[in-house]
Amino acid sequence: MSYQSYYTNISCKYVVILGVIAIFFILVFFNQTNINSRSFDSNTFTVTCQEGLLQPKEAATNLSHLMFVLAGSSRAWSSRRTYVESWWRPNVTRGNIFLDAEPSEEFRPWSPTFPPFKVNEDLRKLKIYRKLRNRVHTRIYRSILENYRLKQDEGVRWYVTGDDDTLFLVDNIVDVLSKYDHTEKHYIGMYSETIKSNFHFSFEMAFGGGGYAISYPLVEALVVKLDECIERYHYIWAVDHLQSLCLADLGVDLVLDKGFHQIDLRGDVSGFLSSHPNAPLLSLHHFGTVAPLFPGMDRPDSVLHFMKAANVDQSRMLQQSICHVRVSSWTFSVSWGYSAHIYEKIFPRSYLKRPIETFRPWRQGWPSYMFDTRPVSQDPCVAPHWFFFDSIGQENERVVTSYTRKFPRNMTSCSFAGNTSADPIASIRVLSPKTPKQGRKVECCDVEYEGAEVANIRLRDCRGDEIIA
Ligand SMILES: *[C@@H]1O[C@H](CO)[C@@H](O)[C@H](O)[C@H]1NC(C)=O
Ligand SMILES: *[C@@H]1O[C@H](CO)[C@@H](O)[C@H](O)[C@H]1NC(C)=O
Ligand SMILES: *[C@@H]1O[C@H](CO)[C@@H](O)[C@H](O)[C@H]1NC(C)=O
Ligand SMILES: *[C@@H]1O[C@H](CO)[C@@H](O)[C@H](O)[C@H]1NC(C)=O
Repeated sequence: MSYQSYYTNISCKYVVILGVIAIFFILVFFNQTNINSRSFDSNTFTVTCQEGLLQPKEAATNLSHLMFVLAGSSRAWSSRRTYVESWWRPNVTRGNIFLDAEPSEEFRPWSPTFPPFKVNEDLRKLKIYRKLRNRVHTRIYRSILENYRLKQDEGVRWYVTGDDDTLFLVDNIVDVLSKYDHTEKHYIGMYSETIKSNFHFSFEMAFGGGGYAISYPLVEALVVKLDECIERYHYIWAVDHLQSLCLADLGVDLVLDKGFHQIDLRGDVSGFLSSHPNAPLLSLHHFGTVAPLFPGMDRPDSVLHFMKAANVDQSRMLQQSICHVRVSSWTFSVSWGYSAHIYEKIFPRSYLKRPIETFRPWRQGWPSYMFDTRPVSQDPCVAPHWFFFDSIGQENERVVTSYTRKFPRNMTSCSFAGNTSADPIASIRVLSPKTPKQGRKVECCDVEYEGAEVANIRLRDCRGDEIIA
């Protein structure tokens, strides 16, 4: 608090205290007179002081300020429930999942581990109904309005929307949203990974499966005009495209945050998840169209396994740390909670931060991606040894995540002498602090390896002038 505001604060307090004393005396000694107590409330001095200075500083944004508005369908619930249950915190996260129809018998009574469900209103009451290009998406879009009308929004600062196959890292979402002024109008999300998807829809829209956040003042402005906007853009196919147009017309444009992931990718996304941007991971999506996140598991189990690490430390989830062993010319790259790589050569971070293209784009085309990639290589000096997250525990005030080799690399060593092969290493243990990582900083590390089956990596703050190369 500055000296100036401290001073004003003090003098304000006195004014209010004097006012209260005066009211007390008036009420005690003149309570027979018909003084309307309301006239005291409207005393401008007291009111402005209270609003401006005497109230405690507004609480930081926490999970209770987020309202999740999820879209699903009854038919898909049995295959998607696990994705939602994996992140939903009963009685803690607030929100609803909107369905097209009542859930089937199998899900009654509705489990308390699911978000409460609501069935969307019948669209046929809309004048524009017959002209709607995509009725399913229009139904989904109106969930924002229908959620608002439930009047469950006390204290809500943000609406966060997503699908029934969206995984949210809610602590990270709180962390990222708390950096924005929720009393202003904000629309925060991310475009698609595939250039063609953005080209086809728009470069100005947050892809809805990756989820996006809109601040409450924007929700309030939107809901008044939402049906009107549906009429204006009845020919638009995609719900998230429609949303971006409605918000643009309210004067609000998308702010990008690299932590939201639509995952408009196909096949094996392990390369993508092993080189995440240094932004907190906020969401993942499209589990049904990519291979299971971990080799040897089915899709729902792989998501539950992923959440084992995320439930301990969301701030480090997928954060990439890189360190070197100079004597053997090895580079270790860790994607916390997911994978670890060993390269038999020294590589700089500038190269390793590009995802290995183990995946394919959502739509074929060149160039394919909105980010840099590097190819999958058969060169033993370029191809890493792959290790995947296995377990999490703690040891001496540190969190320990272990990564094990799921398949042999099947390659010769990079060096001709053959004595620097990383083949003997069966697992990698990563020791990280118990305190969350702050913001978008990159953590450095040291490798402790004494020629056994296990390599230990210790995460630490980077030194001021440390070069990761
Ligand atoms: C979140 O903030 C509200 C104030 O808006 C406070 O009442 C509540 O206790 C906080 N919740 C947590 C879990 O910190
Ligand atoms: C949620 O709260 C209700 C009512 O307070 C309680 O009956 C229920 O057991 C709670 N559910 C969970 C999963 O904690
Ligand atoms: C590997 O072998 C070469 C040649 O024999 C030797 O110079 C080098 O020190 C060895 N490196 C290690 C890590 O043992
Ligand atoms: C390595 O070789 C084994 C045996 O030939 C094979 O089963 C496995 O799929 C190979 N692994 C990779 C990563 O190519």
